[in-house]
Amino acid sequence: METNPPSWTKSSWRQHPALQQPKWPDPKEYERVLGEVALLPPLVFAGEIRAVKAMLAQASEGNAFLLQGGDCAEDFSRCTAPAIRETLKVILQMAVILTYAGGKPVIKMGRMAGQYAKPRSADTEKIGGLEIPSYRGDMVNSPEPTEAGRRPDPQRLLKGYFLAASTMNLMRAFTRGGYAALHRVHAWNNEFVRNSPQGQSYEKLARQIDQALNFMRVIGIDTDIPQLNQASFYTSHEALLLGYEEALTRQDSTTGQWYDCSAHMIWIGDRTRQLDGAHVEFCRGILNPIGMKVGPKHDLDEIKRLVARLNPDNERGRLTLITRFGAKKIEAHLPPLLRAIKEEGAQVLWSCDPMHGNTYTAETGHKTRNFDEILREIRSFFEVHWAEGTVPGGVHFELTGDNVTECTGGGRNILDQHLSRNYQTTCDPRLNAEQSLEAAFQIAEMIRG
Ligand code: TRP
Ligand code: MN
Repeated sequence: METNPPSWTKSSWRQHPALQQPKWPDPKEYERVLGEVALLPPLVFAGEIRAVKAMLAQASEGNAFLLQGGDCAEDFSRCTAPAIRETLKVILQMAVILTYAGGKPVIKMGRMAGQYAKPRSADTEKIGGLEIPSYRGDMVNSPEPTEAGRRPDPQRLLKGYFLAASTMNLMRAFTRGGYAALHRVHAWNNEFVRNSPQGQSYEKLARQIDQALNFMRVIGIDTDIPQLNQASFYTSHEALLLGYEEALTRQDSTTGQWYDCSAHMIWIGDRTRQLDGAHVEFCRGILNPIGMKVGPKHDLDEIKRLVARLNPDNERGRLTLITRFGAKKIEAHLPPLLRAIKEEGAQVLWSCDPMHGNTYTAETGHKTRNFDEILREIRSFFEVHWAEGTVPGGVHFELTGDNVTECTGGGRNILDQHLSRNYQTTCDPRLNAEQSLEAAFQIAEMIRG
């Protein structure tokens, strides 16, 4: 059976340099809050983590597909039933489309219920001549550009825990209690196809799904069964604030193994994946599935060593490499990376983050991304994998169920000058609900050939 590595403890990361950590003004209070979190119940349990890992192993072999999505950074003030429901809804809708088109189970995973912390390029920023700490996500400080607002407050860690628990609770209720029923989710897709100008081109696929559901009904398959009425939904976030992650790392009472019970899957960002850094040290020891972002500035040799460090037993489902090169760079960067990992014989799941390499600043000053560029990166991702004989096993989106105007393009052709209409993000721009569904339909077309 799998075990945590020797010489690792949930605190051993403290002996390594940890980038991107807030400077807590009162370290005693910070440690006291972590002590409090450490006594609170886990947010997920080991059996669920093992289940999703087994699914991710399937995805790495091409027998399942990972769909991961949610806010760039969740906002405490938007932890509301409608906001959670709408994002969950759009992910479920995308999952139905991709399940049908791909002919394989889709692992539904939110960047939700804990995605509250952000890495920043600078520790401070200048606002009106005043140098104040950068905003690091709601779990650390407030986006409000004042000295007081930006002061890291450990109470926010506790609040983040409770909001993650609330979010998780509602998602569990929805996905078990009938909201995720297949015919219901498909009915929402039909609504999109009927009622939006861009939806019509996807009618054919929607009709085929209709026919499949109808076929089941007419031959007398009971629709009141959990396989149809429920969906498994998993959570994930960037494991950035290591004190918080440590406080939620628990020993499974039945096996004695250590799991980070803050989420089912966690990932290491492109900026915090130093070989001897604290984030890699922490993640190497927990038994959760781990993601690692890989951007265009990576060093192949370093990636190989990271893969070996994070997955020494070469276990399938353990490690997902999430590439985020940008539409213009993916064709140059992905093939050498795939070949290097193949040469090592390393088992990884490959997922595509088409968001972070495609960010630009519009003339209006808004940070944005273009829908067509996002889809172009995904298309290249599939094509490169197919050419290399590797498995394109997942996609990773920043999206929301809200009707925001943060990314340009899509069926309604949002232009730069429309961005200000409903630009809500305090962080990176997200696909709105319609753009997300369109993306799913377009991916469906790609994978059906
Ligand atoms: N239970 C199956 C699954 O999770 C089928 C299913 C039910 C489903 N509701 C769903 C699939 C909603 C996608 C979305 O795959
Ligand atoms: Mn982001």
